Amino acid sequence: MILKTNNLCKKYQHEDGQVNALNNVSFEVNKGDFVTITGASGSGKTTLLLTLAGLIKSTSGQVQINGFDVISASDRKLSEFRKDHIGFVMQSFALIPYLTAIENVMLPLTLSKLSKDQKYKKAFNMLQLVDLENRKNHLPKELSAGQQQRVAIARALVNSPTLILADEPTGNLDPGLSSDILHLLKKINQQENITILMVTHSPLAAEFGNRKINLINGEIN
Ligand SMILES: Nc1ncnc2c1ncn2[C@@H]1O[C@H](COP(=O)(O)OP(=O)(O)OP(=O)(O)O)[C@@H](O)[C@H]1O
Ligand SMILES: [Mg+2]
Repeated sequence: MILKTNNLCKKYQHEDGQVNALNNVSFEVNKGDFVTITGASGSGKTTLLLTLAGLIKSTSGQVQINGFDVISASDRKLSEFRKDHIGFVMQSFALIPYLTAIENVMLPLTLSKLSKDQKYKKAFNMLQLVDLENRKNHLPKELSAGQQQRVAIARALVNSPTLILADEPTGNLDPGLSSDILHLLKKINQQENITILMVTHSPLAAEFGNRKINLINGEIN
């Protein structure tokens, strides 16, 4: 087992009232699982991913990833843990506009002890994996949407994370490109045995996983 949540709750306090975004969410994920998370807009999917990663604080409940207690960890320990174990792929690619593809992929290695050459080599290998080594010196604006998303995936993978958290990674792409990205994630999942949790609106995309979680108003149904 690589991830376990127990009675996870998240309430947002807002001047217009409290929002119960997650209600007693409990589930377990095994190493190598490809879990898809579906649910209507506002059902708590993004909140779940952010809470799992400790990027927002839960109101109550437990989260353990690889035996690490996300809820009780200090901010410093948490960011270290994220850097070493979690890769994020978000809907908007969030590439740095003035850095080339390979420089974007190298970013997560900034704080690592590797030499510049080793960092470059690692990033290059990741670009090869997503089939973009011939675009390594392109800026994001000189890449297509699907290529930008593949750079974002390469960046999420460069630290060899144990877990990938993906929030609508194909949300902005046309069906053909979506399918490419989904196949790529599946390949990473199967070849590298990296565990993936992927939020998606698309029933077709949800079929790529081996397990499904559906949220309704912040509860697993
Ligand atoms: N910072 C916040 N403060 C108050 N309420 C919030 C905040 N962030 C999200 N919410 C509310 O929490 C609920 C869950 O939001 P969340 O972003 O997790 O939904 P989602 O399932 O990811 O939706 P979508 O599919 O539209 O991205 C929503 O009702 C939203 O309005
Ligand atoms: Mg969302």
